[in-house]
Amino acid sequence: MHDSRETSFRRAFVTGFPVRHSRSPLIHGHWLETLGIPGSYTREEVAPENFAGFIAALKSGESGFCGGNVTLPHKEAAFRLADRPDALSEELGAANTLWLEDGLIHATNTDGRGFLANLDAAVPGWNGIGSAVILGAGGASRAVIQAVRDRGVGEIHVVNRTVARARELADRFGARVHAHPMEALAEVSKGAGLFVNTTSLGMDGEAAPDFDFLPLAEDAVVTDIVYVPLVTPILRQAAKQGFATVDGLGMLLHQAVPGFEKWFGVRPVVDETLRRLILADM
Ligand code: ATR
Repeated sequence: MHDSRETSFRRAFVTGFPVRHSRSPLIHGHWLETLGIPGSYTREEVAPENFAGFIAALKSGESGFCGGNVTLPHKEAAFRLADRPDALSEELGAANTLWLEDGLIHATNTDGRGFLANLDAAVPGWNGIGSAVILGAGGASRAVIQAVRDRGVGEIHVVNRTVARARELADRFGARVHAHPMEALAEVSKGAGLFVNTTSLGMDGEAAPDFDFLPLAEDAVVTDIVYVPLVTPILRQAAKQGFATVDGLGMLLHQAVPGFEKWFGVRPVVDETLRRLILADM
C-alpha cells in the first residue's frame, strides 16, 4: 500500500511568541535526520494578533505545513481555533500539538503523556500509589494533574501559594483532586508516593525553599518539571533525604513523540543520544 508520508516532504513548525528559546527544533531535527525522513521542523514566531491568520493558512494548506507545536502564549488560542480538539485538550482548555487531516485542524495536548512516559521510563511501576502531591497550579500543573488522575492515583493534593488557583483545578478535575495552601504541605505529604514540582521554584539557579520530603512514603518518587538546571534545588534536597528523583528533561523529550508520529508517520525513540544533544545545548 502506498503511504504518502513515506515519500513526500512534510513540513512541521513550532510557533510561539517569542519562540527562539524553544528546543523542539533540535529534538525533531535530530529525529528527522537519524530516521532519514524527508521533512523539516522550523520555528515560526507569530505575534498574538497574527495567530488566527497563521491557523487559517495552516487549514487552507496555503502555508504548506502539515501541523506543528504550539507554545506560549498561543496554547489556549490553538485549542479554541482547532476544528477537532481531542478530549485531553478539551479538559485542559489548551493545545500544544496540531495536525491537518482531511482539511480540518486536529488538536491535542501531549504534556501529560510526556510527563507519564518520563516517569514510566525512569521508575517503572511508580503508579501503584495511593496519593500524590502536586506543587503549583499553573498551565503545566493542569496537564500533570490530568495525567496522574487518569493513571488512577487515588488522591491528588494540589498545593499552591494562591490557593484559589488550586481550588479552580480541584473543581475542574473531579472529586479525587484536592486544593491546599502551602502551609498544608507537610500534612498532605504524609504517605504520598509521588511529589511533583510544577512551579518555577529553583529555575535557572534561583534558590528554592528547603522542602521536607520525609513525610512522604519511603519509596516515594520526587520529580520536577523544571529542567534548567537538570538537578534543581528541589531534586537535590529530595535525593539528600534518600528519595528517588526524576529530572524534567525527559518530559520535554517524551511530549514531542506523539506530534512527530502524527506529522511524519514514524514513532521516534527518546534515548540517551537525544538527551545528550539537548544537554549540550543548555
Ligand atoms: P506555568 O504555565 O508554566 O505552569 P504559571 O501559570 O505562571 O506557569 O504558574 C506558575 C506556578 O508557579 C503557579 O502555581 C505559581 O503560584 P501562584 O499561583 O501562587 O502564582 C507558582 N510560583 C511561581 N513562583 C512562585 C514562588 N516564588 N513561590 C511559590 N509558588 C510560585
